[in-house]
Amino acid sequence: MYSKRILISGGCGFIGNHLVRHLVKNHPGWLIVNFDALTYAGVAENLKDIENEPNYRFEYGDVMDEFTLSAVFANYAITDVIHLAAESHVDRSVNSPMPFVFSNTVGTVYLLEAARQWWTHEGTFEGHKFYYFSTDEVFGAIHSGDEPFTETSGIVPNSPYSASKASADLFARAYHKTYGLPVIISHCCNAIGGYQFPEKLAPATIDRILNNESVVVYDEGLQSREWIYTDDVVDAAMTVFEKGIPGEAYNIGSGNECKNIDLVNMIIETLWMRKGIDRDEVRKRIKYVANARPGHDFRYAINADKIKAELGWQGAQNDITDCVEKTVDWYLENQEWVEKIKSGEYKTINDTYRY
Ligand code: DAU
Repeated sequence: MYSKRILISGGCGFIGNHLVRHLVKNHPGWLIVNFDALTYAGVAENLKDIENEPNYRFEYGDVMDEFTLSAVFANYAITDVIHLAAESHVDRSVNSPMPFVFSNTVGTVYLLEAARQWWTHEGTFEGHKFYYFSTDEVFGAIHSGDEPFTETSGIVPNSPYSASKASADLFARAYHKTYGLPVIISHCCNAIGGYQFPEKLAPATIDRILNNESVVVYDEGLQSREWIYTDDVVDAAMTVFEKGIPGEAYNIGSGNECKNIDLVNMIIETLWMRKGIDRDEVRKRIKYVANARPGHDFRYAINADKIKAELGWQGAQNDITDCVEKTVDWYLENQEWVEKIKSGEYKTINDTYRY
């Protein structure tokens, strides 16, 4: 009865829950199977609002568990994959690289293999898609004034995180070249918005300001990132999924480049506007930490011409002010969510989904 039965890995994560919600609400003719291991950054409750929708299923499982994976492919006769599940925090990868190798690289190969096996068993790769959501960090770092990354930029990752994602990129590419698996890859810049785990720059900064803690800025805050709002990520990802050509890669970018210290200052300004915080007092709380991230990438920037020219993506609709204001507003309105994360209560709730 469903024209597509899509396995989304990592649907309880930051970008995953936004994408799952969009798919479930906007494509009632597609079955959305959220396959998630509920590791520390997966929050099952993120999708409570849609969990009773008829075209949504949750399947607890790890991408490295080949038996559960093949059962899910067979039970639902999966037609398409959108692979988002990943360990994603660079600092954690510096402290402990192995989970990144396992989840991001090995897990991707298990998922590629499960898709290859199931679609081979079905008799054809025709009409199927395997969309791997990767990161601009696989391209390494650039300096001020350098040209932004294009799809043909070299794969020169610098952190264990980006190396694990880049390795998965190469396997995804190889599965297309070797087996003809219909793989599409995208490389996205830094996403910002609601439901981001509070270890990342934007939510961590908002939380530290609101809780009178030091506002931690690595080095001098001069590193630069390109920020894209979650709605724009979903829009771009849907474009790649629906219109992307197997064997191709597409960069997803917004043009919203911003130095870390400028982003922090924009968050302070927004909280001043919304809550009347004492801006000068908060600025005094900024703590510059040298060498907090060994191998710290200086700048990422994306050339998104290809996805616009070849797939007709309209481009990001939210500028950097929208990104910051909408994100701050979400966190102010969802302090209860933040508290559940910080207190660990979400883990107890996650446990009720592990069946
Ligand atoms: O570019 C896409 C990538 O963006 C994704 O692939 C990653 O999964 C995601 O984590 C993100 O990577 P970043 O390392 O750029 O994000 P993060 O929020 O950790 O850091 C952004 C910048 O802010 C980076 O230069 C380090 C700095 N930073 C970070 C934290 C957590 C601080 O100055 N203070 C902080 O407390």
